[in-house]
Amino acid sequence: MTFLNADGISVTYPNGTQALRQFSLHAKRGEFIAIVGPSGCGKSTLLRVLAGLLSPNQGQVVFEGQILRQPNPAISLQFQDSALLPWRTVEENIRLPLELGITNDGTQPQSLMPNLKARPNPDPQLLISLVGLAGFERAYPRELSGGMAQRVALARALITQPPILLLDEPFGALDALTRERLTEALETIWRALNMTTILVTHSIQEAIFLADRVVVCSPRPGHVMGEVAIHLPRPRHWAMSATPEFGQLLQEIRALLNPLP
Ligand SMILES: Nc1ncnc2c1ncn2[C@@H]1O[C@H](COP(=O)(O)OP(=O)(O)OP(=O)(O)O)[C@@H](O)[C@H]1O
Ligand SMILES: [Mg+2]
Repeated sequence: MTFLNADGISVTYPNGTQALRQFSLHAKRGEFIAIVGPSGCGKSTLLRVLAGLLSPNQGQVVFEGQILRQPNPAISLQFQDSALLPWRTVEENIRLPLELGITNDGTQPQSLMPNLKARPNPDPQLLISLVGLAGFERAYPRELSGGMAQRVALARALITQPPILLLDEPFGALDALTRERLTEALETIWRALNMTTILVTHSIQEAIFLADRVVVCSPRPGHVMGEVAIHLPRPRHWAMSATPEFGQLLQEIRALLNPLP
């Protein structure tokens, strides 16, 4: 059974812009899906719908057999901009979901967390060092670079060990080397925590590196143009990007993104 189903999602904003047209996506429990597509095709819009923050004009999202009508603590979204609270330090920003009661440790009313097993929350300090911010616990957002702020936002999205993790370009502001290190860290965390993860990225390489399946979105209004299954073994390492298999996958996805006239 699929875990999170989006069926026939269409979104038109009040100004008349149609962002999504009949977009469907079915995620299995524990699956890692990457979504790639041109800028403005509706990827962030799709994640907002999947997080229950935006109601589609058509179609519906079903999570664990129930129609999603509002945000659910089991679904964590890292926004494309880091959206940190400027008056809170790095560590205080990361702890925020716990303070808001968005925990996954069994203290939530069962109605909010149907059929989900309670798990202890990860140690904030462990997450801080996994995202490479040890020593910056007490820094304020104004003292961070854009890439550092993104890493705080990633740790904040992970702190509740959400059963569903939605990531919107989490590494967009990072240099190439930090980006490689963090994608490896994310793959390790994903294998350890078994979260159903949906990642939006502009990097086809990053999509192949991380995902079980890459979904290719059309130009706006976004719909699914095709998908490519990634059968590379795990754990993954960036050295794999030099293999013929990786190159073949890259070509397949590029062909879907740029169909010949
Ligand atoms: N709140 C809004 N009101 C009106 N139009 C919007 C709003 N948010 C997004 N749009 C429009 O909807 C379309 C899709 O936007 P969206 O942010 O989902 O794209 P995206 O695929 O995430 O792009 P990018 O890759 O650049 O982040 C764009 O044309 C954008 O201008
Ligand atoms: Mg976006």
